[in-house]
Amino acid sequence: MNVAVMGYGTVGSGVVEILNKRGLCLDVKYILDLRDFPGDENASKFTKDFNDILTDTTVDIVVETMGGQNPAFDFVSKCLKAGKHVVTSNKELVAERGLELITLAKENNVNFMFEASVGGGIPIIRPLTFCLRANNIRSINGILNGTTNFILTKMIRENMAFDEALKIAQDNGYAEKDPTADVEGHDACRKICILSALAFGNHVYPKNVHCEGITKIALEDVANVAKIGAAIKLIGTTEKLSDGKIYIIVSPAIVLESSQLNSVSDVFNAVLVDGDATDEVMFFGKGAGKLATASAVVADALDCAEHKDLRRPIFWGPEKPELIADYRTVENQYYIRLKNVDKTAALAAFPGSKIIDGASDVSFITGKVTENAAVEIIKSLGADLCAMIRVAKA
Ligand code: HSE
Repeated sequence: MNVAVMGYGTVGSGVVEILNKRGLCLDVKYILDLRDFPGDENASKFTKDFNDILTDTTVDIVVETMGGQNPAFDFVSKCLKAGKHVVTSNKELVAERGLELITLAKENNVNFMFEASVGGGIPIIRPLTFCLRANNIRSINGILNGTTNFILTKMIRENMAFDEALKIAQDNGYAEKDPTADVEGHDACRKICILSALAFGNHVYPKNVHCEGITKIALEDVANVAKIGAAIKLIGTTEKLSDGKIYIIVSPAIVLESSQLNSVSDVFNAVLVDGDATDEVMFFGKGAGKLATASAVVADALDCAEHKDLRRPIFWGPEKPELIADYRTVENQYYIRLKNVDKTAALAAFPGSKIIDGASDVSFITGKVTENAAVEIIKSLGADLCAMIRVAKA
């Protein structure tokens, strides 16, 4: 079967490399990119005209690895309407326009697949959709961004400066074109939105999710939590609460020593899915990078080839904003660092809290408390708040 690859960047070139090397049943007929690639071994396949792909009835599968919403949405919609299967690694496209695209795929009896959009080379979309379908999913917690995990690991273990670590992540092809999307948590946010839609059945738009990045993390707090064996990681969480609402958030979180996510370092991602039949299932692997991500894309393309006349049942419904809980009212444990406060008074104000011995300032892990309540308590103590970081729920 013929495949067209739209976007010859890190992932797209990896897809072509794997398809050329592995001798699979898929032939790359076109590579769409506006840039020139002098001397590239695939020179005969390049086109700058999307219509070459759209109008060629011998192209059954289109791979979209351009990234961004435009023109990806336009191109992908046209391909689906033309009866072509589409595979994408584009998390922004799936998180923002996925509902429209899975609907279009259904209407046109073709597949729209996006395994590579979450967790790079880690299988997570297919396991969640098929292997875990007997479960009611209770929660998903994940390290979903390779770049930030790589940066945090370098900062913690090698005392490397943020900018230097980011530069290496960019050189390795981990970071987004605009790395703000990585470091401010937007990339992880798109991914947890996709997982939430698959787990709980309704689209969640990233703009409705509280999202904090890693740029404000102080090395002092990294050192403090290390004293209790914990690490600070960027965590995406989606959880069905007992009142039926969804608690969905992306933020730096204290990952305790007992958590399976604690030792996940470098570019690795991990996704912990808690199902009511399986309990916790963990998926772990390289969350970014050329061949790791291309591996997931190629697998989807093969799935499309093998199910050419059969739709794979990947579907969810429209967003229900009323179901998204206000994160400030959901109970959690917190790491708090205060200045200008009496230690005994601070601990008494937060029942169940545990002081971190030897840490700077007054640093402790609270018992369960809502963010709203914690902020009020700190105000009433008259203390200076230096840091307040959620403890990861898994
Ligand atoms: N920039 C992303 C990351 C790429 O670092 O995880 C993979 O989605």
